[in-house]
Amino acid sequence: MRKLQTEYIDLCLIHQPFNDYYGTYRAMEEAYKEGWIRAIGVSNFYPDRLVDLCSFVEVKPAINQVETHIFQQQKIAHEYMEKYGVQHESWGPFAEGRKDFFTNPVLNEIGKKHDKSAAQVALRFLLQSDVVVIPKSTHKERMEENINVFDFVLDESDMNTIRALDEKESLFFSHYDPAIAEMMIKLH
Ligand SMILES: NC(=O)c1ccc[n+]([C@@H]2O[C@H](COP(=O)([O-])OP(=O)(O)OC[C@H]3O[C@@H](n4cnc5c(N)ncnc54)[C@H](OP(=O)(O)O)[C@@H]3O)[C@@H](O)[C@H]2O)c1
Repeated sequence: MRKLQTEYIDLCLIHQPFNDYYGTYRAMEEAYKEGWIRAIGVSNFYPDRLVDLCSFVEVKPAINQVETHIFQQQKIAHEYMEKYGVQHESWGPFAEGRKDFFTNPVLNEIGKKHDKSAAQVALRFLLQSDVVVIPKSTHKERMEENINVFDFVLDESDMNTIRALDEKESLFFSHYDPAIAEMMIKLH
């Protein structure tokens, strides 16, 4: 807190479900009860880990931040988050630009109807799917573009067209992969 020069933290997440994450979570629960952290949650907890955690903690995670975008929509994970009252938050809402994200013809075609960019359509799709988004940009004009998504609505036909883009697979990595676990553990 001294290093952050703040009196409280809005939200604190466990990055990945590795090592003693129950110990970490219990410490976060204490900090939450003391009022130092206003909300606590997790990230990259796939449904099995999330169900387990939610079943044995006192303070339910407010958020689970997982890779979510038009190509990996996380429908099953979303159902479990809903069931346990955990807000689904997307990391990589633009798939970090992979798969020619910003020139995707479906997003651009739908965007034309609303006078919006592919990026804006992609964010709007997630918001209308009850997914919180935290798009990243180093450009001011893109930050403005990315926040300017609350003045249009995708209809059910647009939503269904985008739902059909789901490949139900990560474009990055799986936390179930032991080689990825080894790599992540070395990072910490
Ligand atoms: N929990 C986790 O394990 C995890 C993992 C990865 C990321 N994250 C977090 O997720 C958040 C999202 O970031 P992300 O890195 O995953 O990627 P992202 O938001 O999917 O994509 C970021 C990329 O899109 C570009 N971009 C942004 N807005 C654009 C626009 N309107 N038009 C065209 N290009 C645009 C950015 O370029 P410019 O910057 O050049 O504009 C950048 O290259 C970050 O806060 C990150 O820390 C969390």
